[in-house]
Amino acid sequence: MHILGIETSCDETAAAVVEGRRGQIFVLANVVASQIKIHQQFGGVVPEVAAREHTQAILPVIKKALLRAKLNPRQPKLDVIAATVGPGLITSLLVGVETARALSFAWDKPLAAVNHIAGHIYASFIDYGAKISWPAIILTVSGGHTLLALMLGHGQWRIIGQTRDDAAGEAFDKAAKLLGLGYPGGPAISQKAAQAPAGQIEPLPRPMLAANNFDFSFSGLKTALLYRLRTDKDWPDKIPAYCLEFEQAIVDVLVGKTIAAAQKFKARSIILTGGVAANQRLRRQLRLKAKEQLPSAQLFITPLKYCTDNAAMIAAAGYYQARLNRLISYKDLKANPQLKI
Ligand code: KG4
Ligand code: ZN
Repeated sequence: MHILGIETSCDETAAAVVEGRRGQIFVLANVVASQIKIHQQFGGVVPEVAAREHTQAILPVIKKALLRAKLNPRQPKLDVIAATVGPGLITSLLVGVETARALSFAWDKPLAAVNHIAGHIYASFIDYGAKISWPAIILTVSGGHTLLALMLGHGQWRIIGQTRDDAAGEAFDKAAKLLGLGYPGGPAISQKAAQAPAGQIEPLPRPMLAANNFDFSFSGLKTALLYRLRTDKDWPDKIPAYCLEFEQAIVDVLVGKTIAAAQKFKARSIILTGGVAANQRLRRQLRLKAKEQLPSAQLFITPLKYCTDNAAMIAAAGYYQARLNRLISYKDLKANPQLKI
């Protein structure tokens, strides 16, 4: 089964073609046109600018993906078109959704309405889909979301914990702003942290690590950093140390909660996915802790190219939806910026 995936929920215009075969996903083309350079001038994503950029990029990006997958862009042999319907910025979502509807009408192909977070989850099934066994504990960490899900089968998940305020990626982005670093903040902080001497500053809090639940809260951590910078006039000389401590605080909380959840629910698989899953310290420490404390569980860390927003993950989610007969007509596809998982 061939699926065209379309993703425009935030600031990446993306299209991909995947082939699904007996529960496995093979990526034939994965094209991402990033708007990061444009939004960097403003220190974050400007919705109207993002929407205008998506409008210009969407058809060339889809055409490129179809050509790379060796399909005829005018009449491609596809089985399904999968598009992100939410959550995200409404003006961005509409570009992908309306394009998917028009193509579905013109080519007479069914649609899969994909939840962006389900897309991040299914990013980890690309190449490894057949190996993942249930129950699985999935940590999805991105700029908009931080959640732990218990997955018992395709399309069957329960959210067991999520952030009560800022997402982990959002915390990285805000901390980077406080420290005068660029957007996106995650990679900027990691880069500085890598050059830091350990123990140069007092530890920051590890919010909710000791709480007896699987929820997160990162807004207080950002405020703790803000107060520390206000009282430390030499902070500009210690930027790498602050980056390291901030990054380590987030990693400790994410790893601690994920391991505790995997233990409680006797997970056979642990999955790490989403934009923040590109963080090397997080990848390394989760691998280490999982091996130490849950040697019988298998760990799946999403390959870097499928961590940040892309359309291969949306097409992958669309494939599993198609297998569950959850396909709809162009008349019923609708963007929903507040969509829940
Ligand atoms: O999944 P994603 O591309 O978009 C959303 O759905 O939000 O995630 C983007 C987020 C940004 O907040 C960015 O700072 C963070 O992922 N990020 C990272 C790294 N690379 C991207 N955070 C920490 N370390 C990284 N290496
Ligand atoms: Zn995302």
